[in-house]
Amino acid sequence: MGYVHGYSAYEAGRLRNSANALSELLHAGVRYPAGALVLEAPCGVSAQTGFLVRNSPGARFICMDISTLSVAAAAQDWPGPAFLAADIYAPPFLPGAFDHVFACFVLEHLNRPAEALGNLLRVLKPGGTLTSIEGDHGSCFFHPETPEALAAWACLPKLQALLGGDSLIGRRLYSVLAGAGLDDVRVEPIRIYCDPSLPHMMKGFVEDTIVGMLRGIESEVIQRGMLDAAVFRKGVEDILAIKTHPEGAFCYTFFRAIGRKPD
Ligand SMILES: C[S@@+](CC[C@H](N)C(=O)[O-])C[C@H]1O[C@@H](n2cnc3c(N)ncnc32)[C@H](O)[C@@H]1O
Repeated sequence: MGYVHGYSAYEAGRLRNSANALSELLHAGVRYPAGALVLEAPCGVSAQTGFLVRNSPGARFICMDISTLSVAAAAQDWPGPAFLAADIYAPPFLPGAFDHVFACFVLEHLNRPAEALGNLLRVLKPGGTLTSIEGDHGSCFFHPETPEALAAWACLPKLQALLGGDSLIGRRLYSVLAGAGLDDVRVEPIRIYCDPSLPHMMKGFVEDTIVGMLRGIESEVIQRGMLDAAVFRKGVEDILAIKTHPEGAFCYTFFRAIGRKPD
């Protein structure tokens, strides 16, 4: 199965811009005690790693991703954590090796999320926590809304499904984590809202995150004939125009879930 966003320099920049714009919301309350050993899986190009390290300066981090290129880039940015290339379906660690696991924006890309979680649980200590953060592309609405913008946006969940993922997994996080065997699962919706009074969110979320994701799939959408190229491009421009529209508004919900491995 392919990974919908790919590994271009453009995508690396998008992940970093997006993480910067969302860090206060996504990382609120994510703190690990001094001495704890935390697995970040996957780390990508380390867009979240910096926030993890800064927010929990006494914790130790091991960060993995299936992409050797991403891991190499991440290791250059952050000297503290250990980075390694590894598959989330087969994390190369002893059972119970970690006090906590942090897994951000990955289950939506996997065709066997329950199996991946089972493997992360194997390397988690009894009583340790797993934090999962996922988007939900069905939670998105905006103004002005044009038919082209709706059609362009709809390509993203369709393409992700074609590649074996589920971009609507955010709303299912409770049952996905509980089904994997985690106890005390708590899910928190994290609502992103942008209007003209929040220009930094218009830039960081509408332009860098949403439009960034759409631009990243343009060639795949066109190659696969999912939408006429001109319609797709107009749709993306219409969404970008929300950023400076006097009545522009954009809403999207992420979901953050935390569960505990049974003792
Ligand atoms: C959207 S990125 C998220 C990365 C990081 N958590 C962040 O928020 O910036 C998804 C990452 O999942 C990784 N990935 C996909 N399938 C994987 C697998 N089977 N094992 C490990 N990593 C995987 C990709 O290489 C990519 O870096």
